[in-house]
Amino acid sequence: MIATLPNVAADLLQAPGSDKPRTTVSTHRPRILLLYGSLRERSYSRFLTLEAARLLQHLGAETRVFDPHGLPLPDATAADHPKVRELRELALWSEGQVWTSPERHGAMSAVMKAQIDWIPLSVGAVRPTQGRTLAVMQVSGGSQSFNAVNQLRVLGRWMRMITIPNQSSVAKAFQEFDEAGRMRPSSYYDRVVDVMEELVKFTLLTRDVSPYLTDRYSERKEAAEALEARLSLGTAVR
Ligand SMILES: Cc1cc2nc3c(=O)[nH]c(=O)nc-3n(C[C@H](O)[C@H](O)[C@H](O)COP(=O)(O)O)c2cc1C
Repeated sequence: MIATLPNVAADLLQAPGSDKPRTTVSTHRPRILLLYGSLRERSYSRFLTLEAARLLQHLGAETRVFDPHGLPLPDATAADHPKVRELRELALWSEGQVWTSPERHGAMSAVMKAQIDWIPLSVGAVRPTQGRTLAVMQVSGGSQSFNAVNQLRVLGRWMRMITIPNQSSVAKAFQEFDEAGRMRPSSYYDRVVDVMEELVKFTLLTRDVSPYLTDRYSERKEAAEALEARLSLGTAVR
């Protein structure tokens, strides 16, 4: 019937034409990129990000935190700007990501969105976010709200990421960090531990099968049709 639609269940367990299982198990530390959405000197979304990075390292992950200072607005410069290149290379390096935005006027901050807007969904055959895991967090000055994390979830879907169920929203963030920027013990802190633990688990479980999970019937069909068109054009020219 549909030539490009495989037996998904069988295919997951076994590579086609092989008696070896499709999956291999990577043993390196999960690679997590953390992005935050503020340029303020005393930024609580940065403090929360650094706290998350410490937890991730404790849980066995390798982490990188991108500093958004100096990143131009989307399309204000060419994509070979050093900060844009750095961001894209980190996205490619990552197997999972954490996005932490302040809530500003009931939305994620422009600094947060600008970073995602600089990461292309695809560069040729390479997709810097597709199939990677994602955890979303936000800080607010007011009472607890979920506006920014809800928007980050939509953005994660748009970037074809595996956004984990748990999330963190730290209300009145100015009360939750000490002078040195460390997070005080609280149920908010415990939630961040939960979120990072879940992120590491999802990353370990999905990273080796991520190309398989994101392989789409409609895209295989499109590629097959494009190939057929090229071949028939070649025949016509000859
Ligand atoms: C322009 C602006 C808009 C803001 N809008 C909201 C808001 O809608 N809801 C809220 O709870 N806090 C709001 N805040 C407070 C910030 O979320 C809070 O200061 C937060 O800590 C900023 O993140 P940062 O510390 O990482 O810079 C706003 C702050 C600014 C400057």
